[in-house]
Amino acid sequence: MAVRSTGPKRWEHELSEASAYSAYSTIRIERAGDRIAWVYLNRPEKRNAMSPQLHMEMYHALDELEIDDEIDVVVIAGAEGNFSSGQDLKQFFRELEDKPDQRYLMEQRYCKWRWDRLSTFPKITIAMVDGWCVGGAFTHLVACDFAIAAEQARFSLSEVNWGIIPGGMVTKAVVEAMGYRDSLYYILTAEELDGARAAQVGLVNRAVPAAELRAEVERLATMLMRKNQHVLRASKQACRMVMRGMDNDQSLDYLGAKFTQLKALDPSNGYSTGLSSFVDGKTYKPVHDPYPRG
Ligand code: ACO
Repeated sequence: MAVRSTGPKRWEHELSEASAYSAYSTIRIERAGDRIAWVYLNRPEKRNAMSPQLHMEMYHALDELEIDDEIDVVVIAGAEGNFSSGQDLKQFFRELEDKPDQRYLMEQRYCKWRWDRLSTFPKITIAMVDGWCVGGAFTHLVACDFAIAAEQARFSLSEVNWGIIPGGMVTKAVVEAMGYRDSLYYILTAEELDGARAAQVGLVNRAVPAAELRAEVERLATMLMRKNQHVLRASKQACRMVMRGMDNDQSLDYLGAKFTQLKALDPSNGYSTGLSSFVDGKTYKPVHDPYPRG
């Protein structure tokens, strides 16, 4: 039977749409040629609240960033001094209230980019937090591999104060990051945390003076870029997988399989190179040097 051409497949269409950076109206992506993509939620007049449009744009932008060979690290931040004030209370909550189909589609999309996609993203991701980080913004904060905050950043799980629980993946995200005791405290009290407190409870890796925030993120990104990206990718996947519901036997089995998979997939053959550099050549100490870049 003759095979008819059916034109571009849906995913090809979506990928070509994703290339259209200039079409984005609620996010801004900067690439300075240093293998870092700076992705800004860009609704500063609304404190970077996440509207349906913003969710769609982030969903597509991650496609493009994933296949961009010139990028190793994706930084997620907010434009003009605020990370994000959470879901857009008007456009997301009020205006979708009587539209269950659209709301369902949106929930698929917003969970997808902020949790499923980001927390398993193959490249390194860093949340750079300044100003407000509220409610739904905790999801992509936690989903990023690293989070660096300004000392005066302001975190709040405000949900209980206006009559809802932290839904979507927020509760799951904060329990994963902070543990049960602190999560329950901040979910029930909605008490504000500053950057230093956020670092204490494990919500961010560290807090630095605002003037040093971008430089600190760049320092971390640059340090990570010198390492073998295949090893980093496998390591972060392994962390997430064992944390999310594997028992000891499953973890041992999975990590063994991952170890073998990495050896097979790493084109730089970093494992053998590193091993022989240390054991035979005595030219390399793994505790001091970055693993050879693959
Ligand atoms: N959704 C929609 N609009 C918002 C949001 C939001 N989450 N946050 C701020 N805005 C809008 C404001 O309505 C205002 O719009 P306007 O200029 O048209 O009046 C503009 O952004 C500026 O907001 P202000 O409140 O004036 O800014 P301020 O700097 O004084 O306060 C703060 C910032 C603390 C973030 C405050 O705006 C606020 O409490 N926002 C709501 C935060 C929140 O509870 N988010 C939802 C969490 S629940 C969830 O995400 C699932």
